[in-house]
Amino acid sequence: MPVVTLRDWIPVALSADLPAATVIPAHTPSGILALWRSANGELATLADRCPHRGMRLSYGFVRGEALSCIYHGWSYGQNGQCRRIPAHPDLTPPAAIKAASYPTEERNGVIWIALGEPKAPPPALEGFKPLRSITLEVDAKLISATGDVRTRLAGVDVLLLIVGISGSETVAHLMVDAAATESDCVTVSRAAEGWRRECEQLGVKELAS
Ligand code: FES
Repeated sequence: MPVVTLRDWIPVALSADLPAATVIPAHTPSGILALWRSANGELATLADRCPHRGMRLSYGFVRGEALSCIYHGWSYGQNGQCRRIPAHPDLTPPAAIKAASYPTEERNGVIWIALGEPKAPPPALEGFKPLRSITLEVDAKLISATGDVRTRLAGVDVLLLIVGISGSETVAHLMVDAAATESDCVTVSRAAEGWRRECEQLGVKELAS
């Protein structure tokens, strides 16, 4: 299969899986980040560690345009700056209280994060539309290096955006031919389950050899 390296951007979720006013853990090869969408639809990604006492921000909640920590309720803006400390409502939080933030873009139904400073926007992936994300218990190296794989499943053109998230776990975001019908999408989704099983069996064989 031809592999195209995605370089600066990591696909972390499909847009449909992150409605307004929600936060989810975004799995990257460098660990988990807190990916959230504000009530107004703005996307942001912060380090998954509250600057107060280290609680995971991906366990938090979104209220309006801020992400709040589940532990003591400190809230953060899109740039990671602490905006409010509930125990001290009259205090303007010092600028030093800030979670690291990461460039985040949404394109053609896919959400992308950059861990550094990207030189170009994420790929548009024209001709495809998002279908679903699946997690495989297999090393990404057995499927491809981090990159995308163009293939066919159930007779439909498919693009697999592959991200290795550990030595034994991989996430694949599936895109299908933009012309695929609803029935094609159901068939491809089922075929993807079979592909997942094949990959996982391949991983078991590798471990045994
Ligand atoms: S650990 Fe997050 S507010 Fe205290």
